[in-house]
Amino acid sequence: MSKPAENIAILGLQWGDEGKGKLVDLLSTNFRNVVRFQGGNNAGHTVVINGESIALHQIPCGAHHPECFLIIGSGTVLSFEVFHQELECLHKRGIDILDRLLLSDKAHIILPYHIAIDNWRESGSVAIGTTGRGIGPTYEAKAARHGVRLGDIKAANLLEKISIVYKEACLKIGSSASLPTPETVFEKLRELASPLLKCIGNAQEYLYNAWKQGESILFEGAQATMLDIDHGTYPFVTSSNCSIGGLFIGTGLPPKALNKVIGVAKAYTTRVGAGPFPSELNNSIGEQIRKAGHEFGTTTGRPRRCGWLDAIALRYACHVNGVDALGIMKLDVLDDLERIGIVNGYQTEDGKLLHTPPSSAQEWEKLEPVIEYFDGWTKPTKGAKSWSSLPTQAQKYLKAIEKIAETPIAYISTGPDREEGLFT
Ligand code: IMP
Repeated sequence: MSKPAENIAILGLQWGDEGKGKLVDLLSTNFRNVVRFQGGNNAGHTVVINGESIALHQIPCGAHHPECFLIIGSGTVLSFEVFHQELECLHKRGIDILDRLLLSDKAHIILPYHIAIDNWRESGSVAIGTTGRGIGPTYEAKAARHGVRLGDIKAANLLEKISIVYKEACLKIGSSASLPTPETVFEKLRELASPLLKCIGNAQEYLYNAWKQGESILFEGAQATMLDIDHGTYPFVTSSNCSIGGLFIGTGLPPKALNKVIGVAKAYTTRVGAGPFPSELNNSIGEQIRKAGHEFGTTTGRPRRCGWLDAIALRYACHVNGVDALGIMKLDVLDDLERIGIVNGYQTEDGKLLHTPPSSAQEWEKLEPVIEYFDGWTKPTKGAKSWSSLPTQAQKYLKAIEKIAETPIAYISTGPDREEGLFT
C-alpha cells in the first residue's frame, strides 16, 4: 500500500481487539485527519511513543503525529474524566493536542449515572460482561432523547438535563444513596469541560469541508462488526454501530466521502465478555494462544477468550462492511502451534451445515464448529517483512483466509513493533 490519496476506514471484523490501532498508527502519518465515529472509552488501543507503550481509549490514533488533526464524531460517547487522563498522559510525553482537536457538539456525555446503571445491570441476571464504562446506558439515554450532549455544556438548562438522567437512574437502581447529586455532577462537568470548550464544535461541517477540499481522512473504527448492535451477536454486543453504517451516522458524511474499507482481523479469534464464540478453545491451545498473544483486555485487563479463526464470521463481516482489503494481525502468535484450525462451517443440532451466522445468540450457542486444519509452520513468522520470507505453510494459511473471506489481504502483522509486518 503506497501513500494513500483517498479516505479510508479501518474497521474491526471480529469481536474487537484485532489490532486496529497498529494499522491506524502505521497509516495515520499519511492522513491529515483521523476520526473516531462511534463508541467511547470501552475501546482501547495501544500506541508506542518513543519506545513506550501507552493505552488510549478515546483520543484517536494519530495523536503523536503533530500534523494530524483529531476529530471525535457525533456517534461517540465521551467521558470527560478519562479524556483528561489521556490528555495528561500525552502532555507528560510532550504531546499537546488541544490546538488540533475537534469534539462534535452532538457527541453524548457519559455521566456517573450511566456508569452506575451499567454496573447495577451487570450485577444482575442479565449481565453480558460489559466494560462497566456506562456505554450502554449513555446510548440508551440518547435513544430515549434525554441524553446530555457536549453542546449542552454551556446551555442554561444543563442542570435540568442532568437531573432528568439522575431521576431515571434512581428509578432503575431503586436508591439514590450511592449516586452523586445533580448539582455535584453539574459542577464537576463544567470544571472538566472548561479547558475543552474551544475544541467543541460542528464536526460534520468541518469534515464536509475537509472532504470537499481534498484533505485525506482516516476513519478509525472501535470495537468490531460482531459487537455491532444490529449486526453482531445480539444481545452480547456493544451499544453502537461499529460496522460501516456507523461511520456515516457518526460523522454526518455521505458514503461518497469514503473510498476504501480495510477490515482488520487477527489470525485467530478472541472475545471478551459473554456471548457466542463457536471457535473458542477451552483447552491448552487456547491458553497457549492467550499467553503468546498477551490476550488481556487493554481497557479492563480481563483475560480474553481465545479460539481459531472463525472464517464464517469473517466472511460475514466482509459482506456487511464491503471490505476492500484485509489486515491480518498477530500471525506470529501461531508460530509454535503444530496445527492451526479455521472454522469454515457450523453444524446445527439437527445436523444442518451453516455457512452464515444465525441471527440469534441462542442459535449461535448451540452450534458445533466445523474445523479445517492446516499444518503449523516449519520456521517462525515473527518479524517477517516480506511475503517471500513467510514459510510456505503460513502462505497457504493466508491464501485460505483470502479465499474464504472472498477478500484480498493487504497487510500482515508479524509482531507488535511498527517494523514487524508487511504490505502485500
Ligand atoms: P460495553 O461496550 O462496555 O457495553 O460492553 C459490551 C460488550 O462489548 C462486552 O462484551 C465488552 O467486553 C465488549 N467490548 C466493548 N468494547 C470492546 C473493545 O474495545 N474490545 C473488545 N470488546 C469490547
